Amino acid sequence: MIKIAVFASGTGTNFDAILENINAGKLSAKLALMVCDKPMALVVEKAKKANIPSFVFDPKDYPSKAAYDQAILEQCHQHEVDLIILAGYMRIVSSVLLQAYPHRIINIHPSLLPAFKGKDAIKQAYDYGVKVMGVSVHYVNEDLDGGDIIAQKAFNCEGMNLDEAEKNIHAIEHQLYPQTIQKIIEELTI
Ligand code: GRF
Repeated sequence: MIKIAVFASGTGTNFDAILENINAGKLSAKLALMVCDKPMALVVEKAKKANIPSFVFDPKDYPSKAAYDQAILEQCHQHEVDLIILAGYMRIVSSVLLQAYPHRIINIHPSLLPAFKGKDAIKQAYDYGVKVMGVSVHYVNEDLDGGDIIAQKAFNCEGMNLDEAEKNIHAIEHQLYPQTIQKIIEELTI
């Protein structure tokens, strides 16, 4: 069984969706570790309730990004993590993790990449006045939101307000991410 780690910083609705899919037998993986850089984040509480081992850290306690990424790497090794899933993790992953997990770190981004990279992607797209919005799942490399695209799903957002567009994006994420992770795992285990 492939072991995954989910890295998150916020509410963890994608964490929930991944866990639900595992519990429903639709995603053949073991959620071996949850990593969070925000001790007060809701996702920390969720992982605790679900009995998922967690590594929760405060970046301020480390001298550098490389130092906390090294600590994360040790946790990943300890829990024998095969695949790292970024789900609303608000930190740039350094070469410490990228080199240890080449083509084994994926991210979900709430825009149709390569458009609207970085923070507040939904609002960026909305303010731009796009007529089509969507979600991308991609490999993580040293370029922010710039790695190879694995999957995308689009929808027509004409006439939607920002709130409706956001709800749509999240609903798509919660389906697309577990499905895409399952496909990646199937390819890894062939
Ligand atoms: C999602 O919209 C994801 O695309 C972005 O951050 C958000 C995380 O939400 N990278 P949640 O913490 O999974 O609810």
